[in-house]
Amino acid sequence: MINFAHRGASNDYPENTILAFENAIKIGATGLELDVHKTRDNILVVIHDEDVERTFLGKGLVKNFDFKDIRKLRNRRKLFEDNKKCRIPTLEEVLKIVKKSNVLLNIEIKNDEIDYKDIEEDTINLVRKYELQDRVILSSFNHEAVKRCKKIDGSIKTGILYDKDIENVIEYAKNIKADAIHPSLRLVTEELIQEARENNIAVNIYTVNNPVYMRKLIELEVDGLFTDYPELLKDIMKE
Ligand code: G3P
Ligand code: CA
Repeated sequence: MINFAHRGASNDYPENTILAFENAIKIGATGLELDVHKTRDNILVVIHDEDVERTFLGKGLVKNFDFKDIRKLRNRRKLFEDNKKCRIPTLEEVLKIVKKSNVLLNIEIKNDEIDYKDIEEDTINLVRKYELQDRVILSSFNHEAVKRCKKIDGSIKTGILYDKDIENVIEYAKNIKADAIHPSLRLVTEELIQEARENNIAVNIYTVNNPVYMRKLIELEVDGLFTDYPELLKDIMKE
């Protein structure tokens, strides 16, 4: 089962930063998860929200910053404010880290609220540049984006993210040629996991921070869990 460090080792370190990704790998995560947006000058950057304010000492939408300016923003978590590894990374910087390791990478394309021009093409081109197609899965709450990814590169793995029930979700996933479903934990049932398995659709579940659920889902042999506590999940997986 893939132990995806959700936004890196994000309980211990500021989310979606180089420090959080490097530490996730160090403590034994087997996958990383991150979120991608685009700056005004078309640089793919790794940050969760459309707006910088929750996580960085600044205000405004990512799409309205040039990269050189967004990079200057210091992290909002006080202990890490001056740490250069806690600025907003580019996707390319994280791909370089992934390339040097063995981990898988789930890139969530965050274009469900903002339509970033060509974000799927740009993401896939960068993944190809580092020859990481075999270690990447692209996901989004925007299922049109998931479809576009498959059209651009049929060999790259995709997953549909969802946080509200979708009727016949396995059929739905098959129709859009997705390789995986990425449901919110509260939507998961044993029947769903079983049906996915019968149809060769992977099941990666977010965000699983509770040991009781970790144990249960390991027992049900799901394909991956996204967790803010990859070290805890690693220990539970060893049990
Ligand atoms: O990819 C799983 C999970 O990250 C989706 O939700 O809001 O944490 O990006 P969110
Ligand atoms: Ca995400």
